[in-house]
Amino acid sequence: MRPSISPLRQSLSSVSFGDLKLHREFTQTMTSRGLKNKETSETNLRKESGLSPLLVKALAKRLDKPAPSNELIRLFVMTKKEWKLLTMATILLLISSAITISIPYFVGELIEVVTTTVERMALAEGGGELPATPQEDIKIIGLELETFYFVAIGALAVCSLANFGKMFLLRLSNERMTARLRSLVYSKLIAKDAAFYDVIRVGDMVARLANASNAVARSFTLSTADGIKSIFMGGVGLGMMAHISLELTGIAMLVVPPLGFMMTVYGNKIKIIAQQSLGSVAALSRITEERLSAARTIQKLAGERQEIHRYNDQLRVVFDAGKRDGFAVASFTSWTELAGNITMLTLILYGGQLIMESSLSIGELTSFLMYAGYVSASAMGLTNFYTEIMKGAGAVNRFMELYDWQTNIKPTVGTKAPFILNSTPPEIEFRNVKFAYPTRPNSLILPDFSLKIPAGSSVCLVGPSGGGKSTIASLLLRYYDPVEGQLLLDGVEIREFNLRSLRKTIGVVSQSPGLLSDTIAENIAYGMEEKVSREKINQALAMADCQFVHELPDGIDTEIGPRGIRLSGGQRQRLAIARAIVRQPSILVLDEPTTSLDMNSQAAVNLALDNLLCRGNATTIMIAHNISTMRRTDKIILLNNQGRIIETGSFNELVLNKDSLFRKMYLDGMHGYMIEDFVNNRKLLPVHAP
Ligand SMILES: Nc1ncnc2c1ncn2[C@@H]1O[C@H](COP(=O)(O)OP(=O)(O)OP(=O)(O)O)[C@@H](O)[C@H]1O
Ligand SMILES: [Mg+2]
Repeated sequence: MRPSISPLRQSLSSVSFGDLKLHREFTQTMTSRGLKNKETSETNLRKESGLSPLLVKALAKRLDKPAPSNELIRLFVMTKKEWKLLTMATILLLISSAITISIPYFVGELIEVVTTTVERMALAEGGGELPATPQEDIKIIGLELETFYFVAIGALAVCSLANFGKMFLLRLSNERMTARLRSLVYSKLIAKDAAFYDVIRVGDMVARLANASNAVARSFTLSTADGIKSIFMGGVGLGMMAHISLELTGIAMLVVPPLGFMMTVYGNKIKIIAQQSLGSVAALSRITEERLSAARTIQKLAGERQEIHRYNDQLRVVFDAGKRDGFAVASFTSWTELAGNITMLTLILYGGQLIMESSLSIGELTSFLMYAGYVSASAMGLTNFYTEIMKGAGAVNRFMELYDWQTNIKPTVGTKAPFILNSTPPEIEFRNVKFAYPTRPNSLILPDFSLKIPAGSSVCLVGPSGGGKSTIASLLLRYYDPVEGQLLLDGVEIREFNLRSLRKTIGVVSQSPGLLSDTIAENIAYGMEEKVSREKINQALAMADCQFVHELPDGIDTEIGPRGIRLSGGQRQRLAIARAIVRQPSILVLDEPTTSLDMNSQAAVNLALDNLLCRGNATTIMIAHNISTMRRTDKIILLNNQGRIIETGSFNELVLNKDSLFRKMYLDGMHGYMIEDFVNNRKLLPVHAP
């Protein structure tokens, strides 16, 4: 009976292309964490994705395939801008190589002249027939010895000059190429969408930018030059060997088949090891980056020891990859050296035989051996070139992954200029929006969300934690696009706007303030096209109750450290509010802006928010848990924990309505005299008697 394949088919048909991409990324992440063991990554993939084991196996098999060799062609095309420098370097390289490769010939000639002269002199002294050659008759390639000496020095000087030029140009283009690749990929990375950053680890990217780009550039500059040199020197050397003695060349060639075999075997091995090695280094730097930036949390939870273990475990993986690389290279080198030495020995013995038979002169054997030495050095150079190119191919694979990742939300695509141009706040409409995060495609956060916010008005989203409030804000900022349904601004689909300009019109204060490691002034003015005057910055700071800034020694020029760590939580939040204010946005997104503030600051910031809201210059989505913040908005939207709207109405309407869910959730248990404070000083019946 044929085995049933239906479970696999079934599982595969339930997986969308997006899922495949996601799982691919997952496997890559696992590999980059140094989990070279396929079983481990499969187990994790299974656990994480909840997919059937059969499907996981099929995916892993598909995704673990080695990189295709056309990467090398891509590499070649990517280096296009360096071709000019590289061509110049190659010309210089050929000049210096040509001079170098001619040395054995002249050495042979010199020995030839010396030996014949000595023989003639010996014969003359012994009363032989031949007279001793007069000094001026001793010539090499038609030049007297003295002239030859000076010509040779000149040639060697040219050779060294060409070498200098070659080396410098190669290094230069290596640096340029590294810089170009880094800049190319960085500009791609910084524009990747939120889905990308949900999956990829920053530390991993740092390592890829630093190491992979260098390995890629190196393989196409320095290593390629080595390759060209080896091919040239090897080719000419071999030709000269054949010219001097076909017989000896035949013997020397016996070493080629085993060498070729070893090259194939080791080349592949080295490529795989290089890929693993880069992956494990990336994982190490990811750990370093992530854990060190969370050093305070780790110390607070006394997790230092755990972190040292984690780091050391990863170090071991890096070390193992290095060891395997070392072993492969060392064994390959020693085998080739052994083969080379045996060949040399054979050549000397056989060559000696030929001299004794007078079918070869001493000068010729010397030239031949020197050429053989060059050819063997070239063969080594060629294998070196091969391993470096293989390493480059391994690295380029890791590098191109970042480059090739398709960003669904592109910041520069979209033609419509946003409404900021006529500086009126837009109407915002969510129309039957359905949304699930790309990393969890099967869990719907918003099953069917519809909401219209009139231009210039404000709504407050309230509801249980995890209900999807911040997600709604993310959709408005287009960190993600809805899976279905539409998001319209003044009736225009949000995707039609140029994203970068759209975001410039949105002021955001989110749950985490998101400050950068710059000065206060730089943080406030960050990303704004026009120069922001200090006066404007100070105004915004005053509106956001940031008086503390003026008490700092450097005022608004104070450096606030990574993520604003040198400030208190409340201070950071107030700066984020000032940053939103200075932009004069036509859409405001305030995601719990006062959560981390004390009562006094809350009151002050609420005043600032009031200022913002009352101006009616922005359509506002506020998310709040805090009643004094909620009541500042025109309309309350109550969500349940499944992302559905269960109640809407103005604050007063809801509070005055005894059956209101909002009143039950937020005001039940409060004393009447507190509620009355909230409703414009109107007396209210107490919900519960005091
Ligand atoms: N980047 C993400 N990838 C996958 N799931 C996410 C992501 N961000 C949030 N979620 C999930 O989406 C759901 C809604 O999260 P969201 O942040 O919108 O909740 P919230 O209503 O803002 O909660 P809170 O009041 O606690 O801030 C949660 O279940 C959360 O786990
Ligand atoms: Mg939230």
